[in-house]
Amino acid sequence: MIYVDYAATSWPKPKEVLSAMTDFLEYSGGNPGRSGHRLSIAAARIIFGAREAVAELFNISDPMRVIFTYNVTYAINLAFRGLLKPGDRVVTTSMEHNAVMRPLRALEKAGIELTVVPCGPDGSLDLEAMRKAITGGTRLVAMTHASNVVGTILPVKEVANLAHEAGAYLLVDVAQTAGVVPIDQPAQGIDLLTFTGHKGLYGPPGTGGLVLGERVDIAELEPLVRGGTGSKSEYEEQPDMLPDKYESGTINSVGIAGLGAGIRWVQSRGVESIRAHEAGLNELLLSGLQNIPGLTVHGTCDPSKMTAVVSCNMAGQHVSEVGLRLDDEFGILCRVGLHCAPAAHKTIGTFPEGTVRLAPGVFTSLEDIGTVITAFEKIAVQHG
Ligand SMILES: Cc1ncc(COP(=O)(O)O)c(C=O)c1O
Repeated sequence: MIYVDYAATSWPKPKEVLSAMTDFLEYSGGNPGRSGHRLSIAAARIIFGAREAVAELFNISDPMRVIFTYNVTYAINLAFRGLLKPGDRVVTTSMEHNAVMRPLRALEKAGIELTVVPCGPDGSLDLEAMRKAITGGTRLVAMTHASNVVGTILPVKEVANLAHEAGAYLLVDVAQTAGVVPIDQPAQGIDLLTFTGHKGLYGPPGTGGLVLGERVDIAELEPLVRGGTGSKSEYEEQPDMLPDKYESGTINSVGIAGLGAGIRWVQSRGVESIRAHEAGLNELLLSGLQNIPGLTVHGTCDPSKMTAVVSCNMAGQHVSEVGLRLDDEFGILCRVGLHCAPAAHKTIGTFPEGTVRLAPGVFTSLEDIGTVITAFEKIAVQHG
């Protein structure tokens, strides 16, 4: 079996992640921040350790500005719902996942003004178009760091400068880049960094978070959910301290134990070295696929400008058929279709059918990529 669906979720997980989770349940299974006994304290220490790991990964100094959520979708909804009011102007791009687009479209119906900046057919962002869209009075710019359809990396720092000049916050969805591309939140000017734990951070599903940059005043950000936090229990109102203001109810502590271990594992390998490994795989994959007659590869096709996420179409064959054959005949597991990003497919010209998406990762070898290319060659020949 060759797993090239890391853009959907990473698999397998490192054994350190599995043992952090079973150890948590076996030895530290109290409710963190609630009771004062040793199991509760042991759990709280592990959660704080995971907060520190996230803070280090994104280079922020205060781990309390890391808010754990259940995935990036929840973190994005928390940021949008907490910050935006009817009449606010929001700018986004046409390469967004529905995790960004759907909440924004719903808020548009509720009275925000939304501008979607069109990207090029390779997924790249025209900074001049972005500059024109970010007028004074813009409250928020929300963008993906890299497309989950074609891997194109968008210029975060440059957009941050434009957003900040206009007095707006910048939210970045780093679902596809956390653990895969080095990220320095303060240096890149990211005010609201939203991440998911189960992809390039090698944590389990059900983990993610929102990291608040120094410019964000928490008085401006309402919680999405209110309830018990284990703190200030004498009050019937939500506490206004971090991270409790935004973490109501028992968190996914076992998942976060796994996420902390995943991030430590990524750090021990080094994000730069993961990036280099994936760029090598990507280069081989792109050059092999581009030589196959009838196969169209989308995006920039330049490993230095993208993550290892390659989308393609085989002339005359529906993507579902190709995906099924890859799985059944060659044991190659990938994803086909729209990848929850219809706007991105409209941008690159593959809507409504979508693409066959190949996304190798840390455990993929060059030999695996060779097998994937041979499989595509066979499918192309048999069809042609
Ligand atoms: C760019 C991007 N944003 C958001 C998401 C949603 O991630 P999750 O389902 O973990 O919230 C994904 C995952 O598919 C993604 O690739």
